[in-house]
Amino acid sequence: MCGIIGFTGLKQASPIILEGLSRMEYRGYDSAGMAVISPQNRMQLAKVSGKVAGLYEKTDNGAAFPGVCGIGHTRWATHGAPTEANAHPHVSMHGQFAVAHNGIIENFVPLKEELLAKGYTFQSQTDTEVVAQMLEDCYEGDFQKAVETVLSRIEGSYGFAILCADDPGTIFAVKKNSPIILGLGEGFNLFASDVTALVEHTREVVYMEDGQYAKVTPDSVELFAEDGSPLPLKVSHVSLSVAAAEKGGYEHFMMKEMMEQPEAVGRALSPRIKGGEIVLDDFRLTKEDFNKFTKIVITACGSAYYAGLAGKYAIEKFCRIPVDVQLASELRYADPFIDEHCLLIVLSQSGETLDTIAALKECKARGATVLAIVNVVESAITKLADSVLYTWAGPEVAVATTKGYTTQLAVLYLFAVYAARVLGRLDAEQYASVIRELQALPEAVRNALKTDCDMSNLAQYFKDAQHVFYLGRNTDSALAMEGALKFKEISYIHAEAYASGELKHGTIALIEEGTPVVAVCTNPALLEKSLSNIIEVKARGAVVTAVVPEGLPGSEAIEGYADHCIKVPALRDVFASIAAVVPLQLLAYHTAKLRGCSIDKPKNLAKSVTVE
Ligand code: F6R
Repeated sequence: MCGIIGFTGLKQASPIILEGLSRMEYRGYDSAGMAVISPQNRMQLAKVSGKVAGLYEKTDNGAAFPGVCGIGHTRWATHGAPTEANAHPHVSMHGQFAVAHNGIIENFVPLKEELLAKGYTFQSQTDTEVVAQMLEDCYEGDFQKAVETVLSRIEGSYGFAILCADDPGTIFAVKKNSPIILGLGEGFNLFASDVTALVEHTREVVYMEDGQYAKVTPDSVELFAEDGSPLPLKVSHVSLSVAAAEKGGYEHFMMKEMMEQPEAVGRALSPRIKGGEIVLDDFRLTKEDFNKFTKIVITACGSAYYAGLAGKYAIEKFCRIPVDVQLASELRYADPFIDEHCLLIVLSQSGETLDTIAALKECKARGATVLAIVNVVESAITKLADSVLYTWAGPEVAVATTKGYTTQLAVLYLFAVYAARVLGRLDAEQYASVIRELQALPEAVRNALKTDCDMSNLAQYFKDAQHVFYLGRNTDSALAMEGALKFKEISYIHAEAYASGELKHGTIALIEEGTPVVAVCTNPALLEKSLSNIIEVKARGAVVTAVVPEGLPGSEAIEGYADHCIKVPALRDVFASIAAVVPLQLLAYHTAKLRGCSIDKPKNLAKSVTVE
């Protein structure tokens, strides 16, 4: 995701900022920029669309930007394309303030309208530029007061670095739901959104907490609470190597990305739920459009296809529109029954998967309206779709998708509830209750991560297996497929998913003494059926790990039969996969780790499959 750095001291700021931005490149970004206050107290600004290398070039490795105080940013586009104009920092109309921002300003539209009415002009499509203009608008000679005034008016999540040309040497750092770490030095101080950008300069750091802001000068760092009251600095010592710090201290990107899922799911959902309503600002389909759709087709590849299979249950349940889920690599050659009465939902983390693009084009040519649910902003699929809902998962580095998948589920659930409301299938009371359930999903994902230790222990039983079976019914059968894929792609152990009722129609003979079976049983209505499938495989010698919701009445019988029982947060059946997938991801991870596999880059696989 985006990276922020700020430096103030006696040394030249530009080289330190450029180096800090390079250190944060691994996080993924699509444009970069920096602002440095010149010795004449002028705001110097350089921005590029593309790599930090372009910023080095543009500023002659920083030499063209003299000055000892500045900020820098790498941007992963959300509001607006990854152009130079949209890159951060954003400077206020008269060059007084420069702002770099990670996160989203949720109420930027009314704030922007207010500023436009006052005659402010905007250079970018970003939410962030509003903050720079607001600072200038309320500035009366007191930098700190202006920052406090603006903070009291904005809503959303943010990490900010703020410069004021009138107050050279001072930078304000602000944190709310987006990390900022202050680095303490001698004769300088700096801060960044990622500890990797600090460790070259200092190992004494302060992890800012939500709602805090800091005034950073070369010889002091003052921390304040939201109400302006001063706070003590809690200094920590960082002993991480730079390489370890890039992975947030985790051994692998996959683990880091699994652990990021609560925040990622929150980012996908919470900015789109406002005042108890789902508001899809970035969505262009009207009620009339919905009414003309007689069916929905979801197309995708791999895990995204499995997310589609799980999403089908939510859409059909809430909207009562038939949903057909098709592999993109098949759909493109299937001569499909698609016309202008079809809504095609295309799911893709990368937005660049060739088969998915081909299926999209094929269906579009037949008249379908296309909604893309994509993570990477401005990727190829977003340009072809009629409407785009971003998953806002942030960059995913590990080849095996984790937060990419859970955020796809989150957006599909959101879409299902939104469409049902538009179609009049949910009354006000039902709608309010489902919204509350959606709002609880990030916390459910966080709680599901608590299974990490259990899954790490369980991996001991799986690491020497030849074959593993994953079973489930309805949404759990879709989840079983995702669980099996994750397991085989990184551990290289053969795994197969079966709709629980299907095993006896063929492959049950493969269950032998000691065969590990993972039975996902999240649906309260199907508990008894799941239990009989567990008994069936146990009778043939399977060692069963059951995944069941916490406190589900009737689940004691499953606990009694299963050899291992993993508890996940209880959710409505059609939302259950988003939490229940977490132990399956963790099981795959720990098994692969015990087998010494290359977890982040499994053999023969690429992160983005741009070939057929
Ligand atoms: C599996 C995995 C792949 C992708 C698939 C589609 O862990 O990551 O199966 O889900 O290649 O990729 P996107 O979503 O980028 O279209």
